[in-house]
Order: sequence, then C-alpha cells, then structure tokens
Amino acid sequence: MTKIDLHDYVASVENYPEEGVTFRDISPLMGNGAAYRDAIDQIKDFAKDLDVDLIAGPESRGFIVGSPLAYTMGVGFVPARKVGKLPRKAVSASYTLEYGGVNELEIHEDAIQPGQRVLIVDDLLATGGTINATRQIIEKLGGVVAGVAFIIELEALHGREKIMQAGEVPFLALMEY
Ligand code: PRP
Ligand code: ADE
Repeated sequence: MTKIDLHDYVASVENYPEEGVTFRDISPLMGNGAAYRDAIDQIKDFAKDLDVDLIAGPESRGFIVGSPLAYTMGVGFVPARKVGKLPRKAVSASYTLEYGGVNELEIHEDAIQPGQRVLIVDDLLATGGTINATRQIIEKLGGVVAGVAFIIELEALHGREKIMQAGEVPFLALMEY
C-alpha cells in the first residue's frame, strides 16, 4: 500500500482570517477516512511509551484529534473548554492567539487527579499560547504533562520553544509549515 502524505489533505488559505495569515485547514484530512486514521495512529504510536492516563485537548479542534485518540488508546478524554461553558467548578488560564486577541480555557477541577499523566493534543501549534494555557491548568490540578502532539506545527511562530521554556516534554508534530 502507498504511504499517505498528509500534506495532500491540508488546505492552505491565504489572508484568512486576516491579512498576512495563512490558515492551515485540516478539514480535508478529517474528511478522508484513511488520512484521519493515519494521523491518529501516528499519534498513538508516539504515545505508546509515555504511560498516558488521559488525553486533553483544547476546544474545538483539539477535540477532533483528542477524542478518537482517547477512544483507540482506551483512556479518558479531558476537554479544555473556552470560558463559560463548563457547569461545575473549573480551573482556568488565559492566553493570546496568533490572531483574535485574548482567550481563556477551563477544565473541570475533578477531571484530573494529582499524578495522572496527561497527553495534550491539538490540530495545530501556532504561538503555543493555547497549549501552554492547557498545560498550566493541568499542572495546577496536579497532573503531569506526559507529552504534546499536533498534526501541524507552524515553525515560524516558535510555539515549540515556548512550550519547552515551560519545561521540556516529549513533542510530536506530524507536519511542519
Ligand atoms: C486554533 C488551533 C489551536 C490554536 C493554535 O484554535 O486549533 O488550538 O488556534 O494557536 P496558538 O498556538 O497560537 O495558541 P482556535 O483558538 O482558532 O479555536 P478553534 O479550534 O475553535 O477554531
Ligand atoms: N490557529 C492559529 N493559527 C492558525 C493558522 N495559521 N491556521 C490554522 N489554525 C490556526
């Protein structure tokens, strides 16, 4: 069988959502069963030696990566939701985006037990703000970040460095732009 090139399933859109930004859209990847499965399987393979108890993913595209991964690994999924969506007591952290200003994420405070090992996943790493906010919340709850994994890394925005400045963790990006 020929190997799937996931780059064939990323749509690049110039000047969206604003002038100067190239949006990397993973909708074609999600829309193709073989490509979607290949991406999730590669992350599962990366996770196999990380002793993962839980997967966490930020709203909303982190859910698209994290839910099938959690299912196939047989571990739980923890959503990091945009502020104001969770009904029970939650811990939050704020961050700034490549575009669109400041945002805040929250995780229910009983979603992670102290010492649990959490793999954070998302579709795309840009500035690293989203992932570092997710990480901050996990660590406030006593969780341990077992690793971070993305379908796409935007190298020019140096998100990886920002993650590592907060403490070295195992890192995977399936594609770099
Ligand atoms: C996008 C993307 C990542 C984040 C990356 O989400 O899915 O979560 O931006 O940017 P950063 O590394 O600079 O923080 P967005 O906030 O646009 O929300 P969405 O998933 O709901 O579209
Ligand atoms: N999230 C932040 N920056 C992005 C980009 N350039 N493409 C897609 N999603 C993003």
